[in-house]
Amino acid sequence: MALLEIVKYPEPVLHAVGKPVERFDDELKKLVADMFETMYDAKGVGLAAPQVNVSQRLFVMDVPDEEGKSNKIIAVNPEIIYVEGEQIGDEGCLSFPSIYVPIQRNQRAILRAQDAAGNWFELDGENLAARCVLHETDHCDGIVFLNRMTKLKREMAKRKIKKLQKTGQWE
Ligand code: NI
Repeated sequence: MALLEIVKYPEPVLHAVGKPVERFDDELKKLVADMFETMYDAKGVGLAAPQVNVSQRLFVMDVPDEEGKSNKIIAVNPEIIYVEGEQIGDEGCLSFPSIYVPIQRNQRAILRAQDAAGNWFELDGENLAARCVLHETDHCDGIVFLNRMTKLKREMAKRKIKKLQKTGQWE
């Protein structure tokens, strides 16, 4: 396994729609293993392929259950097939280090995706799990969480990023 470099906003790959994954081979399994290692190393709960400079529709996540037990999910070619309700809570992104902003998301989301072997499954998530699948599926569509902020929060986040870029803290 290997740690991958996480690209930061505004790298163009973060704003591109990922290509569907067609081959469920060893290369995909290696990418998934490296993405998990990279995500855990960065202390994230989700990581999408575009964030490691791979413009494909795939993400990994691990939102622990109430007892803190690990819950590894590999979602290839993800689609959100059902949403309901609303939640507002602080959200972060490994491609936007130190930016945490309250964002409105659905309270519940059902994800349909393939595992690393190509088998389709559905995941019915609430609260943080719903927030995470919505955030990561957005990445596969070239949408970053800036796009989900209110205009005011977005302007504040952009100003903070500019400052960090100027002082060399956004490399
Ligand atoms: Ni993200």
